[in-house]
Amino acid sequence: MEHPRILFSGSLISFAVITATFACSNGQCKLGDECSSDADCQTGLSCFSCSEAFDGLRCIRSTTTNQFEFMNSLPFNRYAYLTTHNSFANEVEPLHTGIRLTFLNQEDNVTQQLNNGVRALMLDTYDFKGDIWLCHSFGGRCHDFTAFWLAIDTLKEVEAFLSANPSEIVTLFLEDYVETPNGLSKVFKDAGLMKYWFPVSSMPQNGQDWPLVKDMVARNQRFVVFTSAKSKQESEGIAYQWNYVVENHYGDVGEHPGECSNRGESAPLDDKSKSLVLINHFHSIALKVMACEDNSASLISMLDTCYGRAGNRWANFVAVDYYKRSDGGGVFQAVDKLNGQLLCCCDDVHSCVPGSSTATCSATKDQ
Ligand SMILES: *[C@@H]1O[C@H](CO)[C@@H](O)[C@H](O)[C@H]1NC(C)=O
Repeated sequence: MEHPRILFSGSLISFAVITATFACSNGQCKLGDECSSDADCQTGLSCFSCSEAFDGLRCIRSTTTNQFEFMNSLPFNRYAYLTTHNSFANEVEPLHTGIRLTFLNQEDNVTQQLNNGVRALMLDTYDFKGDIWLCHSFGGRCHDFTAFWLAIDTLKEVEAFLSANPSEIVTLFLEDYVETPNGLSKVFKDAGLMKYWFPVSSMPQNGQDWPLVKDMVARNQRFVVFTSAKSKQESEGIAYQWNYVVENHYGDVGEHPGECSNRGESAPLDDKSKSLVLINHFHSIALKVMACEDNSASLISMLDTCYGRAGNRWANFVAVDYYKRSDGGGVFQAVDKLNGQLLCCCDDVHSCVPGSSTATCSATKDQ
């Protein structure tokens, strides 16, 4: 039953608010239930549209499972991490340059992304206005109309998260256009991030395992940074991404069902001398309605395809746009699947028995 309510304002203008009556509200709505706002949904769910899959708004998953709580005794490369593409290009940050005519990729700010379980950020760094900025490129340069904000602001959010969450690890993938000598090093230092720095010298060179997560946490080496600028590994000690990570094609080129091949800069996906696998799954232009489709069944299918192409290796990083959008379990379910496979060869991390030293599936495996 619907009960339309007519509200009259004090002026001559009147307006109507139609309140539909749903079966649930006040934090009671379960995954897939209709909702009118996030507050209707149970903890860990948000109220979103996905016109590709359903009419109106429904509660869908919006937080990850903490994989380290299941098991933190494995190497860093034995876990999967939710990754936001262009994490900085989000809707909530204020304008700093007066005008912005460029695409957005995410809805919430970096702090919220991290709090919701995002563990790797893709940031584009540029020299701009005498400082380091996060920006989209237009002709290879940052402009007022493609600029977001100072890199240090976002890096301080990362520092605050690492400080408040002493068991967590955050990885950055920099599309790095900074040419100022030691420009990036200075901004990491100024943001207070050097105390968490994971040194290049501890990164495996030839396909070996990474250090154990519990050791990275104990040593407080919880900030892992990769740059696309080769020279910086030698000049500033910032790891050159393509020495350590393979990655598939991003954008529309990479979005063909049944295909998964390396982007130009990366070694072939099955090159096991690189211990980390990053899978991109997003279109060239980010649209929420496309993202909800990309982040649902097609993501799982992409990860399955890429597993084969990467020499039977599950992805460690899965990078998406509008990460909270999906028709249900979304990227959170996909990351649970990856961690299930990586930790105990099950299709869901919840089936791995917590605390066991030899990973085993619990009885819930076949449910
Ligand atoms: C991020 O967004 C949240 C929620 O809107 C807000 O409370 C917080 O201040 C923002 N953080 C930063 C660093 O902008």
